[in-house]
Amino acid sequence: MDELIQEAARSILGSKLTIALTGAGISVESGIPDFRSRGGLWDRFDPDEYATINSFKRSPEKVWEMLREMEETIDAAETNEAHTGLAELERMGLLQTVITQNVDNLHQEAGSRDVIEYHGNSRSLTCLWCNNSYDYKEKKGEYPPRCECGKILKPDVIFFGEAIPFDAMTRSTQLASTCQVLLIIGTSAVVFPFNLLPRQAKQAGSKIIEINLEKTALTDHIIDIFLQGKASVKVSQLVSVVRELRGG
Ligand code: APR
Repeated sequence: MDELIQEAARSILGSKLTIALTGAGISVESGIPDFRSRGGLWDRFDPDEYATINSFKRSPEKVWEMLREMEETIDAAETNEAHTGLAELERMGLLQTVITQNVDNLHQEAGSRDVIEYHGNSRSLTCLWCNNSYDYKEKKGEYPPRCECGKILKPDVIFFGEAIPFDAMTRSTQLASTCQVLLIIGTSAVVFPFNLLPRQAKQAGSKIIEINLEKTALTDHIIDIFLQGKASVKVSQLVSVVRELRGG
């Protein structure tokens, strides 16, 4: 495994543009369960009933049962060494952007400055009726949170059936098709259109490094370097080898 880490570190040092794609697996060690592993969120809440925009419009109170659990877990979560490692690579000028599917804000809390939130963020809420917007702190502890117009607020996360924010989609596609190295960490890569990004990067000739507990649908097809293990362990090993090869 050390040779793989060395090879990954050398690729990053030789790259003019490196980006990272992250999913729920990068925050599992921060105490936030992922979606599709055993015991994950979709084991307990059927996404067709709790995670589509139509299910939210049909029964917002019910969807807020799941959202409340997510919010309380996110509030209790701390960044882990995978988040802080990516922020350090950015500070070293070796990582341009993190494109995350996560809505937990942990990349930003770890110090990453260029973060594209592909599936929105749970730190603000919007009224679908009068378009009022609130910081989540204004409604903390209020379940379900209501707009001053009386309607139940929706967090600014992207539900199934909603469009990916235009700027996020445009910038992510542009970066994926021009990067030289792509790190993909803690995602099953099953959700469209996010899962097009690694394929776009491959088509553009980039080297793809995957960090995951187990193989994914990508591993045997487009991954050049597979670092199997916990995100916090692999990212911190990778960053320390990068630091060593770079001479501190
Ligand atoms: N270290 C590394 N990888 C991990 C860890 C860990 N500690 N824990 C879990 N993983 C891996 C799992 O093996 C899995 O491949 O993280 C991945 C998590 O996959 P999902 O649960 O499908 O999460 P994600 O890929 O982010 O889901 C994408 O689906 O439901 C929607 O909007 C939701 O953004 C989410 C999207």
